[in-house]
Amino acid sequence: MKIIRTKDYDDMSRKAANIIAAQVIMKPDCVLGLATGSTPIGTYARLVKQYQEGDLDFSQVTSVNLDEYKGLTKDNDQSYYYFMNDHLFSKVNIDTKHTFLPDGTEPDSEKACREYDQIIAGVGGVDLQLLGLGHNGHIGFNEPGTAFVARTNCVDLTESTIQANKRFFASIEDVPRQAYTMGIGTIMLAKKVLVVVSGADKAAIVKKAFFGAITPEVPASVLQLHRDVTVVADEAALSEVE
Ligand code: GLP
Repeated sequence: MKIIRTKDYDDMSRKAANIIAAQVIMKPDCVLGLATGSTPIGTYARLVKQYQEGDLDFSQVTSVNLDEYKGLTKDNDQSYYYFMNDHLFSKVNIDTKHTFLPDGTEPDSEKACREYDQIIAGVGGVDLQLLGLGHNGHIGFNEPGTAFVARTNCVDLTESTIQANKRFFASIEDVPRQAYTMGIGTIMLAKKVLVVVSGADKAAIVKKAFFGAITPEVPASVLQLHRDVTVVADEAALSEVE
């Protein structure tokens, strides 16, 4: 595991974008695993800038996102589909036919998960998986406390995640209680993993996840077993480790 320490959020975003850009330049038809949450927003903004300046071409790129809320339609501004469109897809030349997220509108969880696994298998797996880190150590929506689930699954969001995500919704009642998420096994099969973390409020979980015991209590800790993980974190997020 390689830890890249950055000055601040902006520096983190630039470095993370450069790593993704390098992947796209080296393999123009790569498969990017993409993430939502507030942390990667600056990374996407940097990628858009590089595209606008003529340094990046997404025309052959395929993307698979980590997760989607169950029950939200694509035009709901809190859906992850909407987020991806807003921050990246509509701003670069990626072919939207090659962008995939779990189908939040599919009420049959088993079907939604099975179909998403078929999509991931169909694109040939993930070359570079971008991840944020939840305050409780979740990656995607793989929440703490249960055995690692290998493939796409439907999860009941924990109270801590519902609380953390309520800032994006009109009221806490509007926060979906379930989500479809790529499983830990699929994340671990990505050829490379890139984690972005920022802020003092993530310092304690950074220490646990990347310097503590490997346990389902802290889902991100499993990444210590992956052979090619880069964590790009700012000083505040690394403030509890040497
Ligand atoms: C959400 C997402 C995760 C994300 C996490 C952290 O629940 N499902 O993929 O990494 O929250 O979000 P943030 O970057 O806003 O702290």
